[in-house]
Amino acid sequence: MSFFYDEKYRSFYLSGGDVSYVMHVDDEGELENLYWGKRIPDGSVVPEMNRYYAVASFDRGDYRRPHELPVRGTGWYGTPAVDVINARGNDVVTLRYVSYTVYASKKPLPGMPAVYTETDNEADSLEILLEDPLTGLRVTSVYTVFNESGVITRHLSLENAGSEVLTVRGAMAASVPLYGNGYDLVHLKGSWARERSVIRVPQGEGEYRIFSQRGASGHEENPFLALCRKNTDEFSGEVWAMNFVYSGSFLALSFVDNAGNTRMSVGMDPATFTWRLEQGETFCTPEAVLVWSEKGFNGMSRTFHRLYRRRLCRGYWRDRPRPVLINNWEATYFGFTEEKLLAIAERAKQIGTELFVLDDGWFGRRDRDDNSLGDWVENRNKLPCGIKGLAEKINAIGLKFGLWFEPEMVSPDSDLYRAHPDWCLHVDGRPRTECRQQLILDMSRTEVQDYIIDAVGKVLSGANIEYVKWDMNRNMTEAFSGDRVPERQLETQHRYILGVYRVMDILTTRFPNILFEGCSGGGGRFDPGILYYMPQFWTSDDTDAVERLKIQYGTSFVYPPSAISAHVSAVPNHQTGRSTGMQMRGDVAVGGNFGFELDLSALSDDDITVARQLVTRVKQVRSLVQQGDYYRLLSPFEGNYTAWQFVSEDRGEVLLCAYVTLVTPNTVPIRIRLQGLDPDAVYRDESGREYAGAVLMNMGFWMQLKQDFTSSVIHLIKV
Ligand code: DGJ
Repeated sequence: MSFFYDEKYRSFYLSGGDVSYVMHVDDEGELENLYWGKRIPDGSVVPEMNRYYAVASFDRGDYRRPHELPVRGTGWYGTPAVDVINARGNDVVTLRYVSYTVYASKKPLPGMPAVYTETDNEADSLEILLEDPLTGLRVTSVYTVFNESGVITRHLSLENAGSEVLTVRGAMAASVPLYGNGYDLVHLKGSWARERSVIRVPQGEGEYRIFSQRGASGHEENPFLALCRKNTDEFSGEVWAMNFVYSGSFLALSFVDNAGNTRMSVGMDPATFTWRLEQGETFCTPEAVLVWSEKGFNGMSRTFHRLYRRRLCRGYWRDRPRPVLINNWEATYFGFTEEKLLAIAERAKQIGTELFVLDDGWFGRRDRDDNSLGDWVENRNKLPCGIKGLAEKINAIGLKFGLWFEPEMVSPDSDLYRAHPDWCLHVDGRPRTECRQQLILDMSRTEVQDYIIDAVGKVLSGANIEYVKWDMNRNMTEAFSGDRVPERQLETQHRYILGVYRVMDILTTRFPNILFEGCSGGGGRFDPGILYYMPQFWTSDDTDAVERLKIQYGTSFVYPPSAISAHVSAVPNHQTGRSTGMQMRGDVAVGGNFGFELDLSALSDDDITVARQLVTRVKQVRSLVQQGDYYRLLSPFEGNYTAWQFVSEDRGEVLLCAYVTLVTPNTVPIRIRLQGLDPDAVYRDESGREYAGAVLMNMGFWMQLKQDFTSSVIHLIKV
């Protein structure tokens, strides 16, 4: 049991792996956080130890107190975890402890993605109920602790058990005080084609906010935030990390108050969200995943990876090797014919590819990006035998067939829009802002969700489709609904995301064997919410091998390689104009779900030979890459060398991947110290050369990369 209740101090201990999380109910019935960090014995904390506010004899309500659930109006001046306006028009909330319940395992979240358990003994859950006596607001703070990893998940459930209407203006799934200050803050910043750069800055006094108000988690920020010690690096040092299991707008923040205490929080973005709670109604926040590690960022990432691979992703493809695919987007864009597609597929089959994906442009009149989204009916001019006929021909070549959709969108020039102009997000009387010449369907409306389920479902059941790429290419403007009373309009963004989750849930359940891949103009919605429904994501529209080093490195801070799709594309690269060799492009893509995205029928014989060898190797190592432990070794953000490594759980197999961008002449070879090996074992590489595990880990693997944009991938097997 990873839960302990200390009667004397009314303290709750959640402990798993190396981690403890401790709370306490004070004399007035308020819930305080006492500790989150390295495991400590049950019952070992005397609450006074954490009364840092007492030394200056602050008031009870002082905002520097270590509240577990800070509220507004009683002396807390930061961002509250529970921010509710009552019918009298004020936002004062007083939460008093009522009771707690504990149970084995973990309950699902209603209508939302969440980490799950498969057996009762993996985790324990604790629910603490608090109440505002004046309004009848009942807040349940829900925790699960995973026994082995010490991962803690949290969310809040807000119930209106009173008789007046309440308006939730803000709700943070987690808000945790960390003792003292002097932390560094790490987050993943980016843009289209430059997703998830690792940013590390000192957290000074004041507040640092990371957010999306775009209606999607977004390219610009990921719903991830970590605080670490100054001495923390990839391999050692303490990290406290939060990731929000949500695909819409969010707020994550780190705050140092004027007494020098730090707090980190993640939850709903208060600028784009309110929620009206009528009598008897409940609002539930999405879930936050909390990871503490003293093994540096790699330790943190491995914990996220294991959890997300096994207890967030689901379904048929969760543990299965992902197929090597060819996607026609960068090969043809909209300008394809059936003949051209089949020529690419033939060549792809010859080099060992397993799946052909037809991207955008197969439906309506879509030869350009200004029409037909919403009209999910095949274009017979381009595909005379339809999707069914094309899938049959692709299958006859010996490949599986996959298809692109962008279900949440509508083109103003489409039959769907002409029939239902009110089905998009909009505000009456105002212009409808287009982006990529498209509008967003109002996924908060059930009839719109049902239309998509029906339209996409028909295509999926009408042909042998074994993979779906689910794209979403723009962010929200006029994020309101034609179908909602004014006092509920600010619920639209969240209701939209709940609608997306409902549609994804129904379609992925109805078609359990289809491999679904998320996409959002590349990696604009690469978040744990989507991974619950779709086990992999198109990482970025930037397919340049050099840029991909940074993008994949940054993405791996939270997300496992099994979620990271990576394709070999043409040179000069379409996004950067840079040329790199086929080997380097392939060696970068081997670090994720490998595929091609170029006209294979136009490749030179030499490149085809390399491509064939790449596919052969991918098939040998993909289980290791997709299911093994991942270590970042050298950072592309810090120099010209990048290296990462995969190790099987039994430490019997290793893949070392190293890359150089710009070579510095007349320098010694690099030595890359491997991680996580068996020091007493001997490992053999493909040439038959043998190395002691201890040598590889302590002395390092010697490597000379003598040319710009080159790479080396070494596969080692324990002898
Ligand atoms: C954006 C995606 O990221 C691309 O891979 C491609 O599918 C295009 N959309 C198609 O419009």
